Amino acid sequence: MGQGQNSILVTGGAGFIGSHTAVELFESGYHPVIVDNLSTSDRLLLEGLPKITGEKVDFFEGDCTDREFLRSVFSQRNITAVMHFAAFKSVGESVEFPIRYFRNNIDSLIALLEVMKEFGVRDFIFSSSCTVYGQPEKIPVNESAPFLKAESPYGATKQIGEQILEASVRSGYRVVSLRYFNPVGAHPTGHIGELPVGVPNNLVPYITQTAAGLRKSLTVFGNDYDTADGSCIRDFIHVVDVARAHVKALEYLWSIGPESNSFEAFNLGTGVGVSVLELIKSFETSNKLSLSYSIGSRRPGDVIKVYADPSRIMKAMGWKPDFSLEEAMVHAWNWQKKISGLT
Ligand code: UD1
Repeated sequence: MGQGQNSILVTGGAGFIGSHTAVELFESGYHPVIVDNLSTSDRLLLEGLPKITGEKVDFFEGDCTDREFLRSVFSQRNITAVMHFAAFKSVGESVEFPIRYFRNNIDSLIALLEVMKEFGVRDFIFSSSCTVYGQPEKIPVNESAPFLKAESPYGATKQIGEQILEASVRSGYRVVSLRYFNPVGAHPTGHIGELPVGVPNNLVPYITQTAAGLRKSLTVFGNDYDTADGSCIRDFIHVVDVARAHVKALEYLWSIGPESNSFEAFNLGTGVGVSVLELIKSFETSNKLSLSYSIGSRRPGDVIKVYADPSRIMKAMGWKPDFSLEEAMVHAWNWQKKISGLT
C-alpha cells in the first residue's frame, strides 16, 4: 500500500471490524496504517488483507496505551486521521475485570488524543456501541435517547469514551462516534472474518463454530422474554457495511470544513430487529444446514430488545446497508469453513 497524503491510522486493524475497514479504506484510495498489539487478534487477518488488496500491509505491532510507541508511528507516517478500534470488548470479562477494562479502553483513547495533538491531527472516528443506551425506552432507538446506566464496565468505557471525546472538541478535535449494533458476517472473499480467542461470547461465531463441529451445541440464552418468539432481539449488520460507514464518516468529517470542531454520534445498524431464533433460522436456510441448539437460561446483563433508527447516518452521509442478513450468514459460514479446513 503506497504512503500518500491520506494515511489513516487504524488501531485494532488486525481485529474483526478494523481489518474490514482497512480493506474499505484501501479500496477508496486511502492508505491504512495498522496498529495492533495482537492481544485479542491474530496475524491471520493481517495475512488475509494482501490477498484482498494485492498490497503489503503497513503494520506496526504495539499497544495504544504506549505513548512512545504511538509517537514513533506518527513520526514515521503522515497520519491525517485516526480510526480507533483497539479495545477490549467482552461484556462478561469486563464485569470480572473492570479495572483492566477501564485502564485499557480509556487510557488508549487518552494516549491517542494526546499524541494526535502533538502531531497536529484532529480527525477521529470512534468505535462506540449501542450498549451506551442500556435498554432504551423507545425502539427503534435514535441518537437523542439518553445514556441509561451502563449494563457492564465495557458499556461504561464506551459511554465515558464518548464523554471524553465530546469534551475534547473544545481542544480542536473533530469526532464522529459510530454506535455499532451487532456486526456479523465476514468479507465476501473469505480472506478475513471474525476470529474470537477461546470460546466465543458472541452469537454468530458461536453458531459457526457449532456448525463446524468445534462446539457441541449452541445455547439460546432465554426464550421467555417479552418478544414475539421469546428470544432477544438485535440489529445484525454486515461487517462490510460497518466498514464502509467508517470511510463515509471520514469523508463526512472532511466535508464539514477545517474551521469547525465537532462531536457527532451516529447509530450504525440496519434498522431491522431480528430475534436470536430468527437469526439461527436464517443461518440454517442460507447455508442449507441444520444447527444443533437448545434453549437455556437467560444471560445476565442482556438487553431484551434493541435495534437502530439509522436515519441520521443515512441522511448525513448517504450510507445504507448493501448486504442482507442472508449474505452475512453465508459469508460468516464461508469464513468458518475456511479457517476450519472444511473447504
Ligand atoms: C454485546 C454488547 C455490545 C457489544 C458486543 C461486543 C450488550 C447489550 N451488548 O452485544 O454492546 O458491542 O457485545 O461483543 O451488552 N446469545 C445466545 N447464545 C450465545 C451467544 C449469544 O443466545 O451463545 C444471544 C444473546 O443472549 C443475545 C444475542 O445472542 O441476545 C446477541 O449476543 P451477542 O452476540 O453476545 O451480542 P450482544 O450481547 O448483543
